[in-house]
Amino acid sequence: MTTATAVAHPNIALVKYWGKADAHLALPATGSVSMGLDVFPTTTTVTLTDAPADTLVLNGAAVDDGPLVRVTEFLDLVRELAGSRVRADVVSENTVPTGAGLASSASGFAALATAAAAAYGLDLSERDLSRLARRGSGSATRSIPGGVSVWHAGDDAGSFAETVPAPPMAMVVVTIDAGPKPIGSREAMRRTIATSPFYPAWVTSTTETVTDMLTACAAGDFTRIGELTESNALRMHATIEGAFPPIRYLTARSVAVFDAVAELRAAGLRAYATADAGPNVVVLTTPEDRAAVATALAGHGDVIESGTGPGARLVRSEGPEAPAPGVDRPEETAE
Ligand code: PMV
Repeated sequence: MTTATAVAHPNIALVKYWGKADAHLALPATGSVSMGLDVFPTTTTVTLTDAPADTLVLNGAAVDDGPLVRVTEFLDLVRELAGSRVRADVVSENTVPTGAGLASSASGFAALATAAAAAYGLDLSERDLSRLARRGSGSATRSIPGGVSVWHAGDDAGSFAETVPAPPMAMVVVTIDAGPKPIGSREAMRRTIATSPFYPAWVTSTTETVTDMLTACAAGDFTRIGELTESNALRMHATIEGAFPPIRYLTARSVAVFDAVAELRAAGLRAYATADAGPNVVVLTTPEDRAAVATALAGHGDVIESGTGPGARLVRSEGPEAPAPGVDRPEETAE
């Protein structure tokens, strides 16, 4: 029996990914930049089996619909790379509020990619693991490296994520609604590309913002990072709202948090708001100000503080083919 367990954390984009250039290869239309969190880890174990089909247990419950189909499609890619036809049992404990726009798919597919690669005996570099995770969920690409990372747009070989230099930062997650979002990001991206007249401008401006963000990160300019983060989030939501029929993820309560964050800034705290494909708001702040920001926003929802998180890692592997946890990965291997 070959089994491997991996842990990965979610990430929150400072410059968002919204739209694919190639749906099959999951190549993004633009680059994106994110900060990995040190809260809400996903722990996933992949165990090879003689059974005729893959199985999935998510947070203790057997799953036999949509998520299992996505996991099986993903494992098919891993099997193709490994030259294997063996099926797997996947057990995943996800502490992110699933489907709430907090990128549960990022930690989920980053942990699955890391565990599955080890279980099937693939010894992939960080770059190739990130390319593999990309095929499960775009944002998972950025949960393979730790810290602040950039996910490059490009072709299959060039579209991976890597850590970039950045100043110390923190986030405060304000969970307004932990229920599933009304429309998933895949479908919403498709509709935005097909119908939002703002989409071409989103691609042009976000490409510029990625460059500006990397410059601000390298310079340690927190104010500029924050301004670009809040602006890019609102541009993404405006682009999505331009779809037909329209899609609106932000609720009145989300907007109230953006207003509250502006008031905190006026009062001298360092805080900027962002939001993904859901109503919840994440506030980018500094390690010094995170506690004060969390206290100030407590009335708006369930508030959780996070520092900058580690990359995905293998925590256990057993069996003839699996590499030991912590072994050095070679710089690059062909996928
Ligand atoms: O990883 P996906 O396909 O669920 O897309 C995530 C998109 C956003 O979270 C809204 C933005 C991002 O860059 O994470």
